[in-house]
Amino acid sequence: MSQAREFDVVIWGASGFTGRLVAEYLYKKYGVDQEVKWAMAGRNQTKLERVRDQVADREVPLILADSHDEASLLEMSGRTKVICTTVGPYGKYGSKLVAACVAQKTDYCDLCGEVPWMRQMIDQHHETARANGTKIVHTCGFDSIPSDMGVYFVQKEAMAQTGQPAQEINMRVRSFSGGVSGGTLASLSDSVEKAYKDKEQFRTLIDPYGLNPTDYRSGPDGRDLQAVVYDEASDGWIYPFIMAGINTKVVRRSNALAGFPYGRNFRYDEATMSGPGVSGRLKGIAAAVPLGIVAGAKPGSLLKKTIDAVLPKPGEGPSQSARENGYYNLRFYTTLADGSKALGKVTGDMDPGYGSTAKMMGEAAVCLAQDELPETAGVLTPAVAMGDALLHRLETNAGLTFDYQAD
Ligand SMILES: NC(=O)c1ccc[n+]([C@@H]2O[C@H](COP(=O)([O-])OP(=O)(O)OC[C@H]3O[C@@H](n4cnc5c(N)ncnc54)[C@H](OP(=O)(O)O)[C@@H]3O)[C@@H](O)[C@H]2O)c1
Repeated sequence: MSQAREFDVVIWGASGFTGRLVAEYLYKKYGVDQEVKWAMAGRNQTKLERVRDQVADREVPLILADSHDEASLLEMSGRTKVICTTVGPYGKYGSKLVAACVAQKTDYCDLCGEVPWMRQMIDQHHETARANGTKIVHTCGFDSIPSDMGVYFVQKEAMAQTGQPAQEINMRVRSFSGGVSGGTLASLSDSVEKAYKDKEQFRTLIDPYGLNPTDYRSGPDGRDLQAVVYDEASDGWIYPFIMAGINTKVVRRSNALAGFPYGRNFRYDEATMSGPGVSGRLKGIAAAVPLGIVAGAKPGSLLKKTIDAVLPKPGEGPSQSARENGYYNLRFYTTLADGSKALGKVTGDMDPGYGSTAKMMGEAAVCLAQDELPETAGVLTPAVAMGDALLHRLETNAGLTFDYQAD
């Protein structure tokens, strides 16, 4: 994005649970109208003003735009270098905004984890965005920045050490603390409901290469883990990681879009560690069963309605203390080209879904607006869109650490 624009970044959805956290982060980190020119946007002036008073100050400009009003989306995206959107479910509210950003050549980032919708955006907009130089970047939160940038980092280290990319990485969530928002649950429900109704969407959801460019939709990886199993890589029991279905596809898309720097036969998977021995196995089962029930409950069923009644509603999410006391610790068990082992680590200093996500999202948006970036365009991944510049911002500003040690 090279044209002069009034703003660097506009946060659309700033009145929602996560959008307000991104606004609060930008305000605390960059102030108003200084190094970063930014604005808050949403569909309701009164609500926006109230949130602005709570997290920033009256100097922050406000913009009104509604997902059903294309003219408002075109107008908003024409005023800024980057649109940073937290208006979800994206499959419900996001398509016209992506089209508007591509039409206006405005770079874009979101927190989407809805695989079938991202597939649609790739099919509809990748070629046009690639040709006109626009970066459309989904998954700029906990899914999938730590995974995508973690693999990017580990592969860089492996290349520097051995001259060849690692042949396999098994990402394991060692520990984490955090909660979930109503908006995230609404997005999960929307994805599951659509997959129930539409076989094509279901196929995309379960296809390990469901986000790859059309010509590269096969490879050595199979479906994500569905059970509690013993894991040689981490020498303990593991169970399914709820974000694996998104993150693994994003990492594979990064590899394909960049021309396979990790190799054509690169293998990647994700799971959550529950520890060694009988207690590790039991812990895995105790964690996996409720996860399966929440994620897989049939839309419209009594079970689904009961679950929805007790979980957070749109606009609600984890408390400030849960966010501030949260963290995550990810391990990247790595097999190098010569068969030897290495270990990558990525940590975050707040809860994954909101505190850390708000910082990652804010930094991704500023990175798109201001940094020297790879000359890539299209519907991209964080690693392919921003590469080293994002890595630097995550370590310097967003509370993430990246570490690599050979055995
Ligand atoms: N990937 C990750 O790590 C991650 C982490 C957190 C969140 N997320 C995703 O981020 C999204 C937002 O989550 P959340 O918890 O912040 O949700 P939320 O609190 O429900 O906020 C949704 C926002 O969308 C706005 N909105 C709804 N309909 C709109 C429309 N027609 N036009 C314009 N704006 C509209 C709402 O405006 P009003 O305030 O006016 O209602 C609100 O600002 C979800 O899709 C969630 O899955 C992802």
